Amino acid sequence: MRLLTVVGARPNFMKAAPLIAAIRAHNLKASDPIGHILVHTGQHYDDVMSGAFFADLGLPAPDVHLGVGSASHAAQTGEIMRKFEGVLSDTRPDVVVVVGDVNSTLACALVAAKMSWDTDGGRPLVAHVEAGLRSFDRSMPEEVNRIVTDHVADLLFVTEPSGVENLHNEGIPADRIHFAGNTMIDSLLAFEARADASAILERLGLRSDPGQSPERYALLTLHRPANVDHRQTFAGIVSGLEELAAECPIVFPVHPRTQRRLESDALGSTLVTSGLRLTSPLGYLDFLCLMKHAWIVVTDSGGIQEETSCLGVPCVTVRQNTERPVTVTRGTNVIAGTQPERIKAAIRGQTRRRFSREMPDKWDGRAAGRILDVIVRTHAGRSRSTPAVSAMCG
Ligand code: UD1
Repeated sequence: MRLLTVVGARPNFMKAAPLIAAIRAHNLKASDPIGHILVHTGQHYDDVMSGAFFADLGLPAPDVHLGVGSASHAAQTGEIMRKFEGVLSDTRPDVVVVVGDVNSTLACALVAAKMSWDTDGGRPLVAHVEAGLRSFDRSMPEEVNRIVTDHVADLLFVTEPSGVENLHNEGIPADRIHFAGNTMIDSLLAFEARADASAILERLGLRSDPGQSPERYALLTLHRPANVDHRQTFAGIVSGLEELAAECPIVFPVHPRTQRRLESDALGSTLVTSGLRLTSPLGYLDFLCLMKHAWIVVTDSGGIQEETSCLGVPCVTVRQNTERPVTVTRGTNVIAGTQPERIKAAIRGQTRRRFSREMPDKWDGRAAGRILDVIVRTHAGRSRSTPAVSAMCG
């Protein structure tokens, strides 16, 4: 079997790494090794957004780099599709795996699903890792990416029970849906010990003496266009952090989109006077270490809601909704919206709480192994039921 994995943007790398590790482990003991091709679309291209993650996660260098870079949604998605079609024609994998919900995920799933190599319509199986999540908010580009990807994929690997329900409700046949667990949590558990050795707390002067956990600092991330591209919303979120800033340092690793916004606006200097400590984007291990020891995390990210849930760290999400309801059920995550008073109230509530590290179902570090098993079985079944073209002709 030849399997091609697509990565493109920062949140893809930690979701794909465990699958690549599972393929390596399979190949060590199997008589039928899996040929693996890693494609990087180049949606994220900076060392801080991409290269550092390859190093931290021990990912192999991509076999193919599409070098697409930043552009509008249509231009970026179209360019990935155009270039990826050539890669598929050249490499002819049996399976294409896409992860998450970024433009690279949608673009490559669509190309693979419409590929037709032989006169009998041969094409790769399309597998979507992190299927079924829904915010029910189509103004989010990621929601559109999720819906379209799920509807063209052959194998849908789901991280939480809500995903299974959403896919059933959208009429996806049950035999395509597999509740496999969360590969991002596989990475977290696999790399936690290495993250513990990070010196980031000392570097930022956040380690108290003697070290207590949680340390008394907050961690903030903001990058969603709906939050950072609208001045009033952004300013509202910052004012929602006032009380917290008076109590502890707030570390804010700034995403490139947010950085650009701050440079074009006086808001940047307001942030510093508001007591926020801005840093450049951090690598995987440093960020994991900061998250694990934080008193509270405030974010508009999707993945961080899950990582804090796994770590038992209180999280306040500054969005109107979440596609990851299991984090709210567990209590680690509160959806606060973007109004200052609601954010303040959510922070007050969450800083009083303590959580154990009780995992949602199947967030056990073994999701990638389960996914690979299903892919191998499905491919074997497909090979048996599709006789070679030469055999049919002869
Ligand atoms: C993308 C994903 C989002 C994910 C986020 C994580 C989509 C639709 N969105 O959003 O789901 O949560 O990544 O980071 O796919 N830039 C750099 N260097 C880079 C990459 C980007 O400077 O390496 C700049 C670009 O020039 C661009 C901005 O950051 O102006 C946004 O990048 P883009 O990939 O378009 O979307 P994100 O906001 O990062």
